[in-house]
Amino acid sequence: MSAKIISGTEIRKQILEEIKAEVTEIKEKHGIVPGLVTILVGQNPASISYVTLKIKTANQLGFHEIQDDQSPDISEEDLLGLIDKYNNDDSIHGILVQLPLPKHIDEKKILNAIDPDKDVDGFHPVNVGRLMIGGDEVRFPPCTPAGIQEMIVRTGVETSGAEAVVVGRSNIVGKPIANMMLQKGPGANSTVTVVHTRTKDLAAHCKRADILIVAAGVPGLVKPEWIKPGACVIDVGVNRVGEKPSVKNPGRMVAILRGDVDFDAAKEIAGSITPVPGGVGPMTITMLMKNTLKALKMSAGIA
Ligand code: GUN
Repeated sequence: MSAKIISGTEIRKQILEEIKAEVTEIKEKHGIVPGLVTILVGQNPASISYVTLKIKTANQLGFHEIQDDQSPDISEEDLLGLIDKYNNDDSIHGILVQLPLPKHIDEKKILNAIDPDKDVDGFHPVNVGRLMIGGDEVRFPPCTPAGIQEMIVRTGVETSGAEAVVVGRSNIVGKPIANMMLQKGPGANSTVTVVHTRTKDLAAHCKRADILIVAAGVPGLVKPEWIKPGACVIDVGVNRVGEKPSVKNPGRMVAILRGDVDFDAAKEIAGSITPVPGGVGPMTITMLMKNTLKALKMSAGIA
């Protein structure tokens, strides 16, 4: 039997409607709206397209949005000054510095300068620590792991006592999602294994997984025979494997994207599975909006 396809595009739509309703209600009751600044340094094409989408989504939701584009030559000192300005701007509740930054800027220094209460990416060490403690301590879960957990919950997959296997140990996906799945609480309480490039028998671990979360960045890494029948498979990989002519814009080329899992074969074995594209991808920006709304509520003392 074919797996249930977990559509990030559909789940995004539901969550954005929920956020929009809450933004409208807060605006009516309190006269305030969430404020988000996106700082883009330079003109990396992938960064431009991510930031454009973030701005578009924020505007659709009625957020106060500032797009702060900076030259690739901006000094570290000037960028730190800019962050300080937004840290002290009461109309701004979320600060996002698009990564990667040019080589002459110390990324860690910049991320650490963001007020943890405005760190809607969840990358500041204070928020990483809060996530590790779990429960009420958590402020801003990083957006991609938060999106993954939301998809699992909204699909109705049982996480309590489930064997969750995470492939990949990055700071922005693997480590935080592993941590989130093992916490006490809804959408968690799983028994978590993290596997990585030095793991001896990747296949054996994957075969045990009731929930398999793959964030390795290697196209087709997970073979269909590694998937336990009925498992929930979350494919975080978005790998560009070539180009094809665009259907929407004749004469232009678009990237051919492939996940870390062989989707066509895996969907015949899994119980539920995310496609690439249209799976985890659309969830990341959605959760950024959710974190920004939370930042506003925290700063205004709205429950
Ligand atoms: N670059 C790629 N993904 C992200 C993200 O989630 N946040 C930021 N700030 N930069 C990114």
